[in-house]
Amino acid sequence: MILIILFRILAILVPKIVLFSLYLTAPFHLAKSPTREHQLDMKATNGFCGAIGNTPLIRLDSLSDTTGCEILGKAEFLNPGGSVKDRAALGIVEDAERRGLLKPGGTIVEGTAGNTGIGLTLVGNAKGYRTIIVIPNDQSPEKLELLRAIGAEVRPVPPAPYKEPHNYNKIAARIADEMENAFWANQFDNTANAQIHYATTGPEIWEQTDGKISAFVAAVGTGGTLAGVSRFLKDQSESVATYCADPYGAAMWSWFKYGHFHFDDGDSVAEGIGQGRVTENVESARVDDAFRVSDRQMMATLNILLKDEGLLLGPSAGVNVCGALKVALAGGPGQTIVTILCDGAQRYSSRLFNQEWLAENDLSPENLSLEELLIHLKDDQNEPSEK
Ligand SMILES: Cc1ncc(COP(=O)(O)O)c(C=O)c1O
Repeated sequence: MILIILFRILAILVPKIVLFSLYLTAPFHLAKSPTREHQLDMKATNGFCGAIGNTPLIRLDSLSDTTGCEILGKAEFLNPGGSVKDRAALGIVEDAERRGLLKPGGTIVEGTAGNTGIGLTLVGNAKGYRTIIVIPNDQSPEKLELLRAIGAEVRPVPPAPYKEPHNYNKIAARIADEMENAFWANQFDNTANAQIHYATTGPEIWEQTDGKISAFVAAVGTGGTLAGVSRFLKDQSESVATYCADPYGAAMWSWFKYGHFHFDDGDSVAEGIGQGRVTENVESARVDDAFRVSDRQMMATLNILLKDEGLLLGPSAGVNVCGALKVALAGGPGQTIVTILCDGAQRYSSRLFNQEWLAENDLSPENLSLEELLIHLKDDQNEPSEK
C-alpha cells in the first residue's frame, strides 16, 4: 500500500520536475543558439562611416532605351548623409587621423557649400569631433538649417571670390589656425578627397559595369570625384572616355578643352559645382573632353528623371545626367555611360519646388519630353569655339 502511494506521488512529481528543469534551461537554449547563428550570419556595416559608399548603380531605363546607350547613375544620394560628399568627408577625416592632424576631442573646420559640411559633421559626430562650418550665405536655407540641426556650428559669410581674404575657405583656414586642436579639412586642395574616390567610387563603378564602361562624365566642385574616378578608370583601361560637364559661369570646360579659363558668359543656380581654378584635386584629373550644360537643360533633365525614372534629384545630378545624354548623342548608340547622382532634390525644396523662385530664375518647367530634350541637345551640340 505504502509502495503504491509512493509510486503515485512519484508519477505526479517526476514529470513536473522534468518539465520545470526544461523550463529553467530552455531560455538558455533558445537564447544562445539563434544569437550565435545571427552573429555568424551578420552583414551589418560598421557604424555611420561603414555605411558610406557601395551605392547602387541605377540603369536609367527611359534614357537608355531612347538613346541606345546604357546610361547608368551611381546613386550617391543614398549615402547615409545624403550625398556624394560623405565619401570625401570620410576620406579626409581618416587621412587626417592617420597623419596625426586630427586628435581625440578635436574640431574639424571647413569652408563648404553644404554637402561636405553635412558629411563632415556626421562623420565627426560618429567619431567624437566637433565641427565648425563656414558657408556662403547664398546657399539653400535647407542646407544651413540641416547643418545646425545635426550639430555643426554654422558661420554663414557673404560670398567672395577665392582670391579675396574673406573667401569662405580662407576664413575656415584662419579659424582652424587660431584654434587649439583644430583641423582644416580643405576639401578643394586636400588630395585625400580625390584619393577616396580612386579607392572606392572608381573600383565600385568598374566592378558594377563588369569593366564594360565606355565613358564617365561628372561636373566639378572640388574636382575630387572626377579626378579620383577618371584616374582609376584610365588606370584600368585607357579606352574609357572621361568628360567634364560644366555649368555656365564655371571655367572647367575651357580648362579641360583648351587649357585656359573662360567663365564670363553666364551663371548657374547649381550648388556644389562650378569651379574657376585648378584645385589640387582637379590637377590630377584625367579628362578627355568637356562641355557645358545650361540651367534650363539641367532643369529639363531633372523633370525627365522625376517623371520617367521616379528619381527626385538635385541640380548637379541634372547637370551630370544631361552630360551623359550629350555623350550619348556625340558618340552614338552602344556606349555604356556612367555618371553621378550626387544628391536628392529635398535639399533644395525651397527653390526647386517653388514656382516663384523658378520663374525669377527663368527656370519655370517647360515639361519637355525626353525626345524633345534630345532634339534640343542635338541642335545645341556645337560648342562655342575657342576664345
Ligand atoms: C551636390 C553636389 N554635387 C557635386 C559636387 C561636386 O563634387 P566634387 O567636389 O567631388 O567635384 C558637390 C560638391 O560639393 C556637391 O555638393
